[in-house]
Amino acid sequence: MADSRQNPLILVVHGPNLNMLGKREPEHYGNRTLEEIDAALHAKAAKLGLEISTFQSNHEGAIVESIQKAVGRVQGLIINPAAFTHTSVAIRDAVLILDVPTIEVHLSNIHKRESFRQRSYIADIATAQISGLGASGYIYALDALAQLIT
Ligand code: DQA
Repeated sequence: MADSRQNPLILVVHGPNLNMLGKREPEHYGNRTLEEIDAALHAKAAKLGLEISTFQSNHEGAIVESIQKAVGRVQGLIINPAAFTHTSVAIRDAVLILDVPTIEVHLSNIHKRESFRQRSYIADIATAQISGLGASGYIYALDALAQLIT
């Protein structure tokens, strides 16, 4: 059924271990918690005239289902698949089904790290990738989506 919201809706998906931000390898991921990042995204979305729905899971299938549930309901996707970036054909396929402008975000610069992190199953199907700008990367992604979809 078509969604009756007035503002475009953006789904924000955070993958495994991102619920531990603030406690987790701050040299790579900074000091901000996921709650702080989501709060900043909500504030930015309000300024841009967007709505966002945020979702975090440590489980691949739950992430696939969150993307499937968004089909026909959201106009854009911001996704940090975290470790699943480097392994998950299932998340890639779900993003293809969703078929909306998609920004892949990584807090760290995955291209400057171990070789296994340099392969992304999302990069070639995303509209763009933002990698290495810390929590600000999510804000830039939202700005970019606002321009792409409004
Ligand atoms: C990450 C990079 C991934 O390689 C890693 O597994 C993460 C976080 C990032 O945001 O920099 O969990 O996606």
